[in-house]
Amino acid sequence: MRDLSGQRALFVGGSSGMGLAAARLFHDLGAEVILAGRSIRRLEAARRALQDTRVPGVLAFDITDAGQVDQALSRLPAGGIDHLVITAATITHGPFGDQPVAEVRAMFDSKFWGAYGLARAALPYLREGGAIVFFSGVLSRRPGVNCAALGAACAAVEALARGLALELGPRLRVNCIAPGMVRTALHDRVPPERRDAMFLSTGNSLPVGRVGHPEEIAEAVLIAATNGYMTGHVLDVDGGHKVRQYATR
Ligand SMILES: NC(=O)c1ccc[n+]([C@@H]2O[C@H](COP(=O)([O-])OP(=O)(O)OC[C@H]3O[C@@H](n4cnc5c(N)ncnc54)[C@H](OP(=O)(O)O)[C@@H]3O)[C@@H](O)[C@H]2O)c1
Repeated sequence: MRDLSGQRALFVGGSSGMGLAAARLFHDLGAEVILAGRSIRRLEAARRALQDTRVPGVLAFDITDAGQVDQALSRLPAGGIDHLVITAATITHGPFGDQPVAEVRAMFDSKFWGAYGLARAALPYLREGGAIVFFSGVLSRRPGVNCAALGAACAAVEALARGLALELGPRLRVNCIAPGMVRTALHDRVPPERRDAMFLSTGNSLPVGRVGHPEEIAEAVLIAATNGYMTGHVLDVDGGHKVRQYATR
C-alpha cells in the first residue's frame, strides 16, 4: 500500500459516504486530511471517527456559496493541499415533465457549479504535482428513468474533469470517479423498506450481484489521486452497471 505521509488532502463531502471512506483510507495511509461539508455536527462526528490524528481541522461551508468557499479555503493550513476530492452534492430526480426546473437548477448549482467553483477557487492552494478528483455517477452514460437531469449533471462533471486535465497539466492531474449505486446516507431519504428493495433489485441486476460499499470507491479515489500517469480519466466503479444484461436472465 502507498505511504501518504507528508501529503495533505481536502475532502469536500468528507463527513459522509464515499468522501468519508476515502478520507479514512488516506488517513490510514499517513496523509493529513481535512474534512469539509455543510453541517459542523456531521463534520465533528466524522473527525472523531478518524480519531482526530492528522485531522488538523474541519471546514463547514456550502459549495454553492462562493463567499463561503473562499472564506473556508483561506483557512487552510499554510502550504496548501496535495489533493482535492469533491464528493459534495445534493441531488434530486423525478419525471421530466413534473420535476420543477428550479429544483433541477439547484441540483446543477450543487453537483456541477459547486464542483466547478470549488476547483477554481482551490487552484492557488493546490501544490505542484497535486490532483483533483471529481465525482459524477454511472447515469452520465447509462440513463435511468426519472434521472435525465441528474445524468446530464454527471456528464457535465466528467467533461469538466477531462478539460481541466488538459488545461491544468502538468502542474495538476484531474480525474473523475463515476460510481454505480453505493450504500451511503445519500439514500436515507428513501423509506427503509423501499431502500432495501432498491439495493436488492439493483444489486441483482449487476454482474457482481450487489450494490457497492463506500470503501470500494475509496480505493478508486486513491488510485485517481496518486497514480502519476493517470489524468483526464473517468474511472467507473459500478459493479458492472454498464454491461448489465438487457433482459432478465
Ligand atoms: N451513493 C450513490 O449511490 C451514488 C451513486 C452515483 C454517484 N454518487 C455521487 O457520489 C458523490 C458522493 O455521494 P455519497 O453517496 O457519498 O453522498 P453522501 O453520503 O450523502 O455524502 C454527501 C456529502 O456531501 C456533503 N454535502 C452535500 N451537499 C453539500 C453542499 N452543498 N456543500 C458542501 N457539502 C455538501 C454532505 O454533508 P452536509 O450534508 O453536512 O453538507 C456529505 O458530507 C455525490 O456526488 C453523488 O452524487 C453517489
